[in-house]
Amino acid sequence: MSENKIQAVNPKVLEVLENLPELPSMPTVVGQALDLLEDPKTDIKQLADIISTDISMTTQILKLVNSAYYGFPSQITSMNKAMALLGFDKVRSLILSVAVKPMMMSYSGKALWNHSLRCAVGCQHIARSLDYGDLDEAFIMGLLHDIGKTVMQIYNKKAYPEIDKLVGIGADILDAERTFYGFTHTEIGKALVEKWKLPLIIGITAQHHHNPLNSEETISASIVYVADRITQNQLKFPIFDNEIIDSFDYEVQNPEMLREEIFELSQPIVEALS
Ligand SMILES: [Fe+2]
Ligand SMILES: [Fe+2]
Repeated sequence: MSENKIQAVNPKVLEVLENLPELPSMPTVVGQALDLLEDPKTDIKQLADIISTDISMTTQILKLVNSAYYGFPSQITSMNKAMALLGFDKVRSLILSVAVKPMMMSYSGKALWNHSLRCAVGCQHIARSLDYGDLDEAFIMGLLHDIGKTVMQIYNKKAYPEIDKLVGIGADILDAERTFYGFTHTEIGKALVEKWKLPLIIGITAQHHHNPLNSEETISASIVYVADRITQNQLKFPIFDNEIIDSFDYEVQNPEMLREEIFELSQPIVEALS
């Protein structure tokens, strides 16, 4: 059993998740699609048929697939064609992006949503240069790293601006969250991702993206740490903790340049899903 499995869960996190009046649940079609993706017997047509039953989801996935980020030379107009061109391993991140957007946008606003998309693209970019196996997984790690902030805002929207204020004058975000809520976005983010039955690594990186060296998945958590810091609205100095950067094989020679590169790469996705 992994270390994360046996770490005690903050009881407040469980209480909040169980008692939220508007518990963030995945749309049915997303749950069905994710289940199909787990099944090796699934074919593309089955998956496309399920997604096509949700018109809004289909429209947004097609918009995303047709964005410059994916770089297909001609317009893709059907779910079947989109799935066939993308392949199974890229479908999950698209489905999740479209599924999470309404919840994050309505409770946390555009700034967190755009940051999450940029962080997702950043994770994928860094993962690619590290030869990290699953690039779709890297995207999802970034997409959902701060999902816990949205849960906190669903639970108590009024307290969150107080945390922003404290962070603005130099407080540690996790300490500030503990003071106002009794738990952190990293703890509740992990718990939500587990509730959604996403791969364990997505929960681990949500939990450890502020302190990747505490994780048994140091590389994955460090990828999210770098992508997160580099895609903040304002770069905070010092940008990185040297001990973290030294712990994995990724060189950031010029953070401003990396930031520009990731913002440029992510712009088509940000626009398609704005
Ligand atoms: Fe965070
Ligand atoms: Fe973040």
